[in-house]
Amino acid sequence: MAPRARLPRLAAALLLAAAARAMSATKKRKQIQKLKELRASEWAHRRADKSAKKTMYYGIPDEWSRRGHIACSREIDRGGDFVVAVASDAPDAVPIFAAINSTAANTRRRRLDVVAFVGAAAAGDLERLVEDHLRREGATLDLRVSVCRGLDDQLQLRPAMRALQMLGNSTRVKRKELLSPFNFAAFYLPHVLAHAARILYLDTDVVVRGDVDELARMDLGGKPAAAVEDCSQVLRKYIDFPLAEAYRAATARRVGGRACAGDGCEPMPRETPGNATCVFNRGVVLFEGRAWRAQRLAERIERLVVDFVHSKGALFRAGVSQPPFLLALAENYHKLDGAWNVRGLGRDAVGLPEWRAIAASARRAFGGFAGVERDLMRRMAAVARLRDAARAAALARGAATPAGRVANPYARGDHYPYVCPHAASAKILHFNGEVKPWRMARAQVSHPTPAEGALCLWADLGAARRAHRCGTVEACLTSCAGEWHRYVGGLGPLGEP
Ligand SMILES: *[C@@H]1O[C@H](CO)[C@@H](O)[C@H](O)[C@H]1NC(C)=O
Ligand SMILES: *[C@@H]1O[C@H](CO)[C@@H](O)[C@H](O)[C@H]1NC(C)=O
Ligand SMILES: *[C@@H]1O[C@H](CO)[C@@H](O)[C@H](O)[C@H]1NC(C)=O
Repeated sequence: MAPRARLPRLAAALLLAAAARAMSATKKRKQIQKLKELRASEWAHRRADKSAKKTMYYGIPDEWSRRGHIACSREIDRGGDFVVAVASDAPDAVPIFAAINSTAANTRRRRLDVVAFVGAAAAGDLERLVEDHLRREGATLDLRVSVCRGLDDQLQLRPAMRALQMLGNSTRVKRKELLSPFNFAAFYLPHVLAHAARILYLDTDVVVRGDVDELARMDLGGKPAAAVEDCSQVLRKYIDFPLAEAYRAATARRVGGRACAGDGCEPMPRETPGNATCVFNRGVVLFEGRAWRAQRLAERIERLVVDFVHSKGALFRAGVSQPPFLLALAENYHKLDGAWNVRGLGRDAVGLPEWRAIAASARRAFGGFAGVERDLMRRMAAVARLRDAARAAALARGAATPAGRVANPYARGDHYPYVCPHAASAKILHFNGEVKPWRMARAQVSHPTPAEGALCLWADLGAARRAHRCGTVEACLTSCAGEWHRYVGGLGPLGEP
């Protein structure tokens, strides 16, 4: 290149460098990140069409999971029509035990089939816990628990799951554990447990207080799945809609332009749902196996995963397995009563505006709530003051606060402990959030003013009357984690620091 041609470029580079120096380092980083994202997004849009032309469709054959990597402590009994399943690669077996024990303790079913898909770290412990406790306690219940390993290896046989690993170095996927096939396990359950008419998938941070037999018998109106709707978030939080539409259109052109019939063919993609559609929580999902397989929902989710990988992570945000699940199933699931997934119980604090919204909805739903609301607020304020004082003191000592190293939200005076007002009617308590019950000491959860975590109001709010079983609001408002600890009561001291 001639020196003259190089000169203006050099000048521009110098100018840029000077400008860059003037900028603060963080600002610069942000701008560069933004530019990168912009370029990646443009790139993804341009290439959506090309990618979708490639066939990345592999139907899941019926016998797929039979010849595989899954090995169970006890052969999965293929005679039952309802299975409760968990899937987790967490090393701690006790939360899974709590989910199983609580399910078994509260059902009137005579037979309960449970399959726990776990990683090698938890398998041995869980097998022991099940052997030592559940079989003995469940004497009146025919409880069949299979602890199975190898689901992750099995899922790695799917091209989409392998493709996902290509995002291992992506800056868009910040939490790499989200790429673990275990996060996708739920979608494959109707294939792995193809003998069961219905499967209840549970996250491992739940306790079940209701009778799952209701779910086994419930009419799902022909829908392939059922879950609890969550209108605190809408789809556009998770999905880049213009990009999703570009991928969908390209796939539709390709599938539509090909003469193909039968199960081996890629299905026509669904219409893209509205971007303001409420999401559902995937912690508790009931699958109707036949409909799920017939609609080829696992394969559709795989298609979306492939598009996601192809977009270099631009298609979805705030998660990796949640968005394609939401997109594939939007407006195509049966809405379960909210009692089946009472969420947020792993939270610590709540701000005033959010609490007002929670209280307003409790007032609408429960005749008895208005009668306790004022006492409840007073109690919440009192607990907030205690937490503030304790955390301020801990911070002054230089110690970590009980809820971690976060700044003390109670100090501002507009934060309260997170309260679930309708715990008494909850059928499943879901401890999603940071403060997990198994990390809390027993002494802490049984304390009248627990230093951290959500509080559950156990008052019966069904009727418009003030009196309730536990008497005063003080007596009724206890740590939600206490309920979890009831189901591991026989396991000796847990979570004692
Ligand atoms: C990620 O980066 C590492 C180290 O740079 C490299 O060895 C690996 O192959 C990369 N993985 C992918 C999927 O690109
Ligand atoms: C959401 O959809 C509406 C109606 O289709 C559209 O006007 C709006 O721009 C969309 N918003 C986003 C963020 O995609
Ligand atoms: C299982 O739950 C029951 C009912 O709450 C409880 O009594 C029992 O102790 C639990 N089992 C273990 C091993 O903790």
